[in-house]
Amino acid sequence: MSERICVIGTGYLGATHAACMAELGFDVLGVDVDERKIAMLSAGVVPFAEPGLDELVSRHVREGRLRFTTSFAEAAEFAAVHFVCVGTPQSRDGDGADLSAVFAVTETLGPLLSQDTLVVGKSTVPPGTAERVSERLAALAPPDVTVEVAWNPEFLREGHAIEDTVRPDRLVLGVASAEAEKTLRHVYRQSIREGVPIEVTDVPTAELAKLAANAFLATKISFINAMAELSDLVGADIVSLADVLGYDDRIGRRGLNAGLGFGGGCLPKDIRALTAQAAELGAGVAQLLSSVDTANARMRDRVVDLAVEACDFAPRGRRIAVLGAAFKPLSDDVRDSPALHVASTLDALGARVRVYDPVANETARRAAPTLEYVDSARDAVTDADLVLHLTEWPEFRTLDPLALGAVVNHRRIIDGRHGLDPDRWRLAGWSYRALGRVTRETV
Ligand code: UGA
Repeated sequence: MSERICVIGTGYLGATHAACMAELGFDVLGVDVDERKIAMLSAGVVPFAEPGLDELVSRHVREGRLRFTTSFAEAAEFAAVHFVCVGTPQSRDGDGADLSAVFAVTETLGPLLSQDTLVVGKSTVPPGTAERVSERLAALAPPDVTVEVAWNPEFLREGHAIEDTVRPDRLVLGVASAEAEKTLRHVYRQSIREGVPIEVTDVPTAELAKLAANAFLATKISFINAMAELSDLVGADIVSLADVLGYDDRIGRRGLNAGLGFGGGCLPKDIRALTAQAAELGAGVAQLLSSVDTANARMRDRVVDLAVEACDFAPRGRRIAVLGAAFKPLSDDVRDSPALHVASTLDALGARVRVYDPVANETARRAAPTLEYVDSARDAVTDADLVLHLTEWPEFRTLDPLALGAVVNHRRIIDGRHGLDPDRWRLAGWSYRALGRVTRETV
């Protein structure tokens, strides 16, 4: 069986998949329409922050096992297995997924195919997409070429992309033939040998599995956040409550951290894509997921409200330090970032917002240029009237509240991620507030 693989689309998913396939010993060709990205990757440089990926890409580029191109003709000739990893963002004009990149690949690749080919979708798509791709490819490919489409969704988390690709917690093979299954089992033989659970299923189930997994994760987060609001009202403590729930294996503690809610390039757009499709089909899950989305947005508003209250309801001109801009730690991704949303809202209310993120300052500056960005937590909090902890980077956990207390204007902190130790901050003379925590005080 051929040891050559094409990976089309070299964003987060594709660049990681391409590098990890090279690591597994395949000859890999990464393809993208973005010339700048291809030039960077060809030089062994990853255009975004992901722990370990730079090293993996540069090593395999150097050793010649990983190459990048903008030529689909070269790709069609290079391999008989093509992984499609292009982005499927939210549509500009609605909640549904924008599948234009998936179909652009289909239209370009189809007529160029010169050998029997397996196209394996990894992009997150609504069920039914693979069938449309398959129909188009059959129509576009030369008559003597057979093209089959399989779906093999990816569950990688930003910040843990390599680990999640090399040692996934499950493999999902959505296939329509034994031949496609055999090819994919060959690609993933190392993971299979290591005992990674594998679910061989039909194509629509594989497509839905990814959206359903993200929808469940989002629901779990919105549930615990809704409980945080209730905890505030009844005097309960959300962190302790989450621990209690988490001990139940059926619930589990992971992904049950209350706070500012979810953001990023996946969970928000995926629940909306599923909601849009479900609504169109008249399925009840549309209502459930729409409340999950609303509950999530509410957390951002509640943190803004707390901040405004801490500014005596007069935020104009107040100095607010924001710790964290990325949508989560270990990433420079600010797409739909809750932290940046709160910072920008307070900026719009007239506050003087100063942001520090250990790696996302640059991406944040591009997305929200009116905020001030500084290079350390200390610089951010100097002279601040209020400090907001909005992305739980490990370095914030070890900040010294005594030292920072000496440079702020007021020792007031709102912990939007429950990542700090309230006792340490209070002992150092700070007023510490967090949503859903018992020990509330007036700030
Ligand atoms: C998510 C899924 O976790 C991956 O399995 C999936 O493959 C990926 O989307 C995707 O579709 O490509 P990711 O967006 O990297 O991965 O981030 P998560 O770690 O799931 O976090 C998403 C958001 O939820 C972040 O803003 C995070 O701060 C928030 N979150 C997460 C919480 O508020 N509480 C938690 O307990 C966990």
